[in-house]
Amino acid sequence: MMDKIAILDFGSQFAHLLANRIRRLGVYSEILDPSVNSEILSEYKGIILSGGPASVNDPNSPKISEKIFELGIPILGICYGHQIIMHALGGEVKKGLACEYGLTDFYVRESCGVLSKLNVGHYKVYASHFDSVVKIPKGFKVIGSTQDDPFSATANEEKNIYTLQFHPEVTHSNGGMKILDAFVDITGAKREWSIEKFIEMEISAIEKKVGKKKVFLLISGGVDSSVTYVLLARALGHERIHAMYVDTGFMRKNETEEIQAFLAEAGVENLHTFDAKERYFKALKGVIDPEEKRRIIGDLFLEIQREVSAKLGLNPKEWLLGQGTIYPDTIESGGTKNADKIKTHHNRVPEIETLIKEGKIIEPIKELYKDEVRMVGRTLGLPDKMVDRHPFPGPGLAVRCLCLEKPDTIDLDLDAGEYKATILPLKSVGVQGDERSYRHPVALEGDANWNKLRHQAPTITNVYKEINRVIYTLALKNGESIETLSVTPSTLSKDRVALLQEVDKLVMDKIYKIDGNKQVWQCPTVLLPLSVNCKGGESIVLRPVSSKEAMTANFTELPWDELNSLAREILEIEGITAVFYDITNKPPGTIEWE
Ligand code: XMP
Repeated sequence: MMDKIAILDFGSQFAHLLANRIRRLGVYSEILDPSVNSEILSEYKGIILSGGPASVNDPNSPKISEKIFELGIPILGICYGHQIIMHALGGEVKKGLACEYGLTDFYVRESCGVLSKLNVGHYKVYASHFDSVVKIPKGFKVIGSTQDDPFSATANEEKNIYTLQFHPEVTHSNGGMKILDAFVDITGAKREWSIEKFIEMEISAIEKKVGKKKVFLLISGGVDSSVTYVLLARALGHERIHAMYVDTGFMRKNETEEIQAFLAEAGVENLHTFDAKERYFKALKGVIDPEEKRRIIGDLFLEIQREVSAKLGLNPKEWLLGQGTIYPDTIESGGTKNADKIKTHHNRVPEIETLIKEGKIIEPIKELYKDEVRMVGRTLGLPDKMVDRHPFPGPGLAVRCLCLEKPDTIDLDLDAGEYKATILPLKSVGVQGDERSYRHPVALEGDANWNKLRHQAPTITNVYKEINRVIYTLALKNGESIETLSVTPSTLSKDRVALLQEVDKLVMDKIYKIDGNKQVWQCPTVLLPLSVNCKGGESIVLRPVSSKEAMTANFTELPWDELNSLAREILEIEGITAVFYDITNKPPGTIEWE
């Protein structure tokens, strides 16, 4: 048996990210419900208590058994985990005294315990909390603090219990990996986890789960489903997998042909392509609401899968349905016990949830993040050009083509410093705290200066709760500045998707050309039914982001001259009246607009 670290999940968006970080440190980790029996926990080398949205003073908040403190196993509490430990052992937690949200200046007072790999001094860390510890229990000492929170990091070295108010697992936390690394050292857990080991274990798990059955796999040509195919093929052989690619009509320009070639190269046999373009356009006719679009697309995937199964005579008793779901798909769909729904990913619609409960779905990489999926792909010998492809959402361009019946306006007087600000009469999805938001974007005009814009965008989204996204005006077809803004009532039509495909192709060709060092993780191009200073026509938003696992992301600061020339090229395309650049990080804006 491998050494393992247990992660008790109190409903944090970051619990699995924590598991990912521990795996990256070479240790196997497992996510457990906080109500787990302490006898089970005694088999683990260390226990991490995650964050979560609850408040320890609320009688209904999730609890832990105090027996875990008697197991003699090293414990690390993070955010809610920090508060619950302090509360349980005789400290005190109060509401709203020192809320912190985002990057905070953390001071290491003593370089010991989980902070032993950091020097005494200042570090930027990511914190997000309303409650704070105001008194620590006996036996504990403060080893770090922030300006608003004197008890930000505590230690009881004798019992090996450590607590942190901030999130070391979030990429933006400076020194976060060193903290987790120090905790792993304290637990003494052997660093035995590796991608090779994962592959080996997953192959035997697949063999066990599938038994004598076969797998019908929905494949998209992206990294996730291709890696899933190869893993399944290693375990079961090509003959026991039937792969189907559904062409929804919302793929990038020429992508279906490229994907077919890619998949053949990756060894995919038995690929069945299903042309569903007409059906998708019909099903989505007149639909405006983003969640409604997502639901229809997800349901239609399943309907087609059922039809094809019936036609091919795939008896459900002999077949499982395979999906290339990865972890962020689950968490953002509200798929864990206490998480909020940000958006429904196509592989997490209610019907799929039912099939999962019935044991009819197999998802070999559902615990992994993209960085790990890529490592698995590379180890299994998939070509780089496939492993390094940008992620592309299942619903494709359908969620990048915004639809509107009429303008959705608000009356708000917004101060954007030296920039001219125009609030757009439409909304897009965002994620704030651990919750979904659906709010207005604001367009800025003025100095093309990353230093200023990087500062200005979060200032606006922090101050105005009606705004969750900020875009910068790169170029206008007519006029020097935004004067008139009108909504062209639009739904998902073939013409609009074709227009978006045209622009998207220009954008992607440019991005692949100028992004040699792969700063860009993904680059959605979004079509808005907005005409600027023109009669009729639409607008484009470019959304290149840099990210590690899509849970958080920063907008990418590409060279201005390249962006300006790209914007000019886009304006040459008939029907485009303005080109914007999304300068919102995630949070508060999600990567996709819908
Ligand atoms: P957001 O927009 O939530 O996206 O910041 C996070 C990542 O997930 C991708 N995405 C999807 N992937 N099915 C998918 O397979 C979906 O329904 C879906 N929606 C968003 C998105 O492109 C980004 O990489």
